[in-house]
Amino acid sequence: MDVTRIIPGIRAILTFSSTGPIIKYVNPDRLKKEINNEQDFINGLNSEMGIYIAAGRDEEQIIQKFRNVQSETGFQRGLIFIENVGLLGAGNSWDEADHFINQYLRGTTVTFIEKESKSARILNKVVIVTGGAQGFGKGIVEELVFEGAFIMIADVNAAKGQAVVDEINRKKGKNHALFYETDVTKPDSVIAMINATVSEFGGIDVLISNAGVLRAGSIEEMDEKTFDFVTDVNYKGFFICTKYTIPVMKLQRRYNQSLHMDIIQINSKSGLTGSNKNFAYAGGKFGAIGLTQSFALELVHSGIKVNAICPGNYFEGPLWSDPETGLFAQYLKTGKVPGAKTIEDVKKAYEAKVPMNRGCTPKDVVKAIYYLIEQEYETGQALPVTGGQVMLN
Ligand SMILES: NC(=O)c1ccc[n+]([C@@H]2O[C@H](COP(=O)([O-])OP(=O)(O)OC[C@H]3O[C@@H](n4cnc5c(N)ncnc54)[C@H](O)[C@@H]3O)[C@@H](O)[C@H]2O)c1
Repeated sequence: MDVTRIIPGIRAILTFSSTGPIIKYVNPDRLKKEINNEQDFINGLNSEMGIYIAAGRDEEQIIQKFRNVQSETGFQRGLIFIENVGLLGAGNSWDEADHFINQYLRGTTVTFIEKESKSARILNKVVIVTGGAQGFGKGIVEELVFEGAFIMIADVNAAKGQAVVDEINRKKGKNHALFYETDVTKPDSVIAMINATVSEFGGIDVLISNAGVLRAGSIEEMDEKTFDFVTDVNYKGFFICTKYTIPVMKLQRRYNQSLHMDIIQINSKSGLTGSNKNFAYAGGKFGAIGLTQSFALELVHSGIKVNAICPGNYFEGPLWSDPETGLFAQYLKTGKVPGAKTIEDVKKAYEAKVPMNRGCTPKDVVKAIYYLIEQEYETGQALPVTGGQVMLN
């Protein structure tokens, strides 16, 4: 049985007024208790509510059985044991789901007090952020977590990704973010990350395809290997992440027609207008807008909106401001800005190119993310967030 084809359906059934539970899964091999029948399961329950689902012919039949028991019992949060599949904890948060499971496995009764603010803007939405270990991705994660989201950071950089998760969970005082080492150019890596997201959180509501790389260079300078590297991450990576996310989203929609889900690609102003000696990047970004529009058409009847956000330059982020490898340091060295003597001079010259006289920040991007999630009547768009530097015609 493939749990990614069961749990999102169960979570969709348990989603009322667009807020679903967080569902954590424990594989039968990791259960320290023998559960051979319904009575074994019921005997082990403490104060939490629990339902038992006998083995099914296939994933679909299991979800149907769950739906019948749920409508008879009114079950909303607690434990679900599925024969031959394992144990699920369904809570108002990851901590509560984890608490239900631990309480059951250890046989202890401890009251859990859920303190989540019910007014949070994206309460209990499960969001994958690729490239969330630094830069825009990190800023997006930090903002979304404080509005109630549960985040899977999918990034190749394990040290930085785990550090972001630790910092966020410490500040938040709860487990709202998890990290999974992922290379968006490798299907097996993305599939493993999707499975982990479903096992830890129960489904996927929003995919933010943000991982990106930049290697500038003239046509003569650019070799094929570098061109392929940039294209693989910025263009093909978006396809791979979308391909393996949508079965989960479609399953959720099948069991709850009121759900709206989002795929948001963090594109660039370089996806809207050419970029001198930076064509590998701009070409992949233009292409990703083609993917966005085409995915949007294909997925519109599955309750999945697909949009891109095209930010201006994030001058405070590492891509620009890293003192050694950042673009400001590089441009100072190569004399790209005539008369500039310091990094600050180069920065000022670039800020002056923006009508609003400053770079784009993660907060600016997150406002666009909220707009796209909340707007139910738009798909296939590329939304600029550039301080007036790029205007659509
Ligand atoms: N920084 C800017 O000025 C700017 C402007 C417009 C758009 N963008 C876009 O925003 C996104 C984020 O850019 P950033 O500036 O924060 O970049 P960044 O380099 O600071 O961060 C990118 C993250 O992506 C990760 N990553 C790279 N390759 C990966 C892969 N194969 N699989 C998984 N993760 C991978 C990196 O480890 C890193 O954590 C990119 O898509 C970029 O094109 C950036």
